Amino acid sequence: MRDAYRREINYLRVSVTDKCNLRCLYCMPPEGVEFLPHDEILRAEEIEAVIRAATKVGIRKIRLTGGEPLVRKGINDLVRNISNIPGIDDITLTTNGLLLPSHAAALKKSGLKRVNISLDTLKSERYREITRIGDLACAWKGIQAALDAGLHPVKINTVVTRGINDDEVEAMAHLSLKRPLHIRFIEIMPIGDGNSWAEGRFVPAEEIMEKISRRIGRLHPVRSIEGDGPAKYYRFEGAEGTVGFITAMSNHFCGNCNRLRLTSSGGLRPCLYDSREIDLKTPLRRGAEERELIDLIMDAIDMKPDRHHMHEGWADRKRVMSQIGG
Ligand code: 5AD
Ligand code: SF4
Repeated sequence: MRDAYRREINYLRVSVTDKCNLRCLYCMPPEGVEFLPHDEILRAEEIEAVIRAATKVGIRKIRLTGGEPLVRKGINDLVRNISNIPGIDDITLTTNGLLLPSHAAALKKSGLKRVNISLDTLKSERYREITRIGDLACAWKGIQAALDAGLHPVKINTVVTRGINDDEVEAMAHLSLKRPLHIRFIEIMPIGDGNSWAEGRFVPAEEIMEKISRRIGRLHPVRSIEGDGPAKYYRFEGAEGTVGFITAMSNHFCGNCNRLRLTSSGGLRPCLYDSREIDLKTPLRRGAEERELIDLIMDAIDMKPDRHHMHEGWADRKRVMSQIGG
């Protein structure tokens, strides 16, 4: 279905949990966030009911996010059930990778197509600082597990922050030379309350691009890689993988936005940067018919704003990224 600005909406990002086994600096405040009570989180059957209804208005692509989706019990069954829903032809997952060694092969078998794995640094001490509790070697094992399981193309999400990891953009870009990895440099976004430290640490994608092409070589635009989203991709001469740039701040891509988001507590959000949401949990729990869900999903599509206004300050300070699902 098309929204009021004639954008075709075919993609639903589903946050399956607000919990995470890491506490990344830019995602959660230092004290962590209070996790929602178990009962507030949508059950697997409820998520599936929403997705089934969403296919009736043209949703074809699903991405599972969190928190960390792999900490949710039964994630593998959920993936299998979603991939069996008629009309869904693409199911992917965004993860920090730590649990992939024990999950990747089964997920692939259940119908998962690809993963995006977060990795902001190649230095273990720094990985510990950024994630507050993570172990870099485990993240690498996760990346390897994804490659071994054939979850191609494996995309790496790298949030670049000045004074924290901007000295590593060249090393990160290097990863694309010898392995089929797609390194996506993400501009940090002013999301949630715990992020005021990031003010003044913003690094525009253009600066990263300029730096890596000066140090490594010319970047050739790539037409499209599977699961083409808002990133723009380039390849170094002869490289196995690519580098991509997600310029949510310096050059917003809202004109091509094709997505809705379902929060872990059952709120349907027309836009990541817009605090409005449509409550689906209440109707689900009083046993609403699919028709009612479809109408609510259509309402959310109609509510999609033409673009975000992050530069003007962000309205929703009550939630952090882990609760909305990146
Ligand atoms: N700005 C930009 N990217 C973010 N992510 C989490 N918080 C932010 C933020 N404030 C990214 C993570 C992860 C994805 C789900 O979202 O790096 O890869
Ligand atoms: Fe967890 Fe991802 Fe947030 Fe890091 S960015 S704390 S891995 S949800």
